[in-house]
Amino acid sequence: MITRKSAPELELMRAANGLVASVLAALRRLVAPGVSTLELDAVAERQVLEAGAVPAFKGYHGYPATLCASVNDAVVHGIPSATPLVEGDIVSIDMGVVLDGFYGDSAITVPVGQVPDRTTDLLRVTRESLDLAIEQMRVGGHVSDIGHAVQRHVEANGFAVVREFVGHGIGATLHEEPQIPNYGEPGRGPVLASGMVFAIEPMVTMGAPAVKVLDDRWTAVTRDGSLAAHFEHTVAVTDSGPRVLSQMSARDTAVETASREPASVPHG
Ligand code: MF3
Ligand code: CO
Repeated sequence: MITRKSAPELELMRAANGLVASVLAALRRLVAPGVSTLELDAVAERQVLEAGAVPAFKGYHGYPATLCASVNDAVVHGIPSATPLVEGDIVSIDMGVVLDGFYGDSAITVPVGQVPDRTTDLLRVTRESLDLAIEQMRVGGHVSDIGHAVQRHVEANGFAVVREFVGHGIGATLHEEPQIPNYGEPGRGPVLASGMVFAIEPMVTMGAPAVKVLDDRWTAVTRDGSLAAHFEHTVAVTDSGPRVLSQMSARDTAVETASREPASVPHG
């Protein structure tokens, strides 16, 4: 069953996800050569607790940290470590929180200092694929339209989509139905209705899409060692179009649906 959130529930989810967005924005500014992901994790945990929220990943199936910090060929679920980041790395920072009973979940991939142009392309295309996926979050669309939009854009740019991990419904639990693959044919699966909230999270590789999990039992890395990028937003389907809950702006930057009525122009 796909839950549909009421307007007050969406406001609670907006608060939880707004917190995630503001912490990620702070972490993005801290990323630099010499900084470790364990240091980022400490900052994140302190900010989450100070906001009266609880880290969502810590303790989830035994996961040990507030952040997932996945460097270079790590795709997702990297465990924060004391190893300093170095110039040219990329790091995916993924964080979830619970605030007033509702979950927030979002991720960004950040370059460490200067990175090669092809790496910048990987980050840009992955981020663009998330935006294209978000545009599919419309009443009457199908769940599989989301992954189709990701796959089309990623493969058109010569990158590959990871199959082993998926996006998910989110609400009063971190992972709800449905699962949201980042590939597939359009027009399949459940029909989207207002109040549905999904965490959409394309995971994209520069080489082959296959991944494996390291001996730490969490970190998923590309089998071929190629770089991977990951961006995630929590997004609500509303009658006025997609509403990204996990972004900072006070305004709700709903992706525009059809063209709007122009504001009435006063005579004279
Ligand atoms: N954003 C990821 C997800 O929604 C992160 C989960 S990490 C875990 O699945 F530690 F909670 F498993
Ligand atoms: Co998620």
